Amino acid sequence: MAATNLQGRDFITLMDLDREQVETILDTADDLKRKWIRGEPHRLLQDKSLFMLFYNTSLRTRNSFEAGMTQLGGHAHFLQPGAVYTPALPGDEVAYSTERVADVARVLAEMGHATALRIYGKPTGWLYGKGDQIVREFARWSRIPVINMEDDMYHPCQALADVMTMREKLGELRGKKFVMSWAYSGSVEKPLAVPQSAILGASFFGMDIVLAHPEGLDLDPNVLQATKDNVRRYGGSFELSSDMDEAFRGAHVVYPKAWTAQDTSGKTPMDPEKAKKIFEANKDWLCTKEKMALTDDAIYMHCLPADRGMEVTDEVIDGPNSVIVEEAANRMHAQKGLMALIM
Ligand code: CP
Repeated sequence: MAATNLQGRDFITLMDLDREQVETILDTADDLKRKWIRGEPHRLLQDKSLFMLFYNTSLRTRNSFEAGMTQLGGHAHFLQPGAVYTPALPGDEVAYSTERVADVARVLAEMGHATALRIYGKPTGWLYGKGDQIVREFARWSRIPVINMEDDMYHPCQALADVMTMREKLGELRGKKFVMSWAYSGSVEKPLAVPQSAILGASFFGMDIVLAHPEGLDLDPNVLQATKDNVRRYGGSFELSSDMDEAFRGAHVVYPKAWTAQDTSGKTPMDPEKAKKIFEANKDWLCTKEKMALTDDAIYMHCLPADRGMEVTDEVIDGPNSVIVEEAANRMHAQKGLMALIM
């Protein structure tokens, strides 16, 4: 087991961690998962509180953090979207429904042991990077750890669960082909956080990563660079593709998911009409059993919720190679490992 001290650390993006730190979280998660399966108590966070500020909806993230904190002996407070003040940065327009992040972060820090946030898309006007800026502003003012439960750039908790699931299903990840592919959806309201975190997660483990998408759906060049840097440091490879079939050929893991067309410089907000045109021209980016047949018996992954009939057919997502339920369940185990270490 890798061992490194993470106490008091924020968890905003995997880019802030090295491989040993990621492995320490995953090894702790594996250990706590074994204890949970055996029914052994593991109340490592007795009487501790996690504040969860959700500015977007959630099924998995909310419930995995709440159940995880209960199992660790603490409590997670759910701060409902619409029932908390909209976070304001210095310079933002002041309204009665807003509260400066500096004040929220410092107040919560006096009452508990970590604050977690989800903020992307509509609450940030679809301006790429604004959600991440708010999460970082919380971290700047908070003397307790801040956890990113998904902003417009990163979903690091999802990436932890994704890697945990791949380790369980494939064992050694070195040399395995991981395909993060765009897939069609009827909605363009799809942040870049999951694909960006997924390729970063795979890049710590020597995987052969292929990022496939049609023209106009590029991810953030800084994330691509960080992925390449990790590949240089930890081994494996990183390639771009504009052909879903070609990308799937020989894959051990496929992760087909929609993300929007976005100005990743953060200068202009997402243009839904422009994104829609790109989406509608690429409806054939659908994960089917014919595409799965091109792989090396790959596991099918998705963070959920999935757009059935658009991103993926029922027979693939409900088929024998789909690991979506284990992947969702591992959200809880991975986050327990994380919380046990940083809180
Ligand atoms: N994967 C994920 O973050 O799910 P929720 O949106 O339900 O939290």
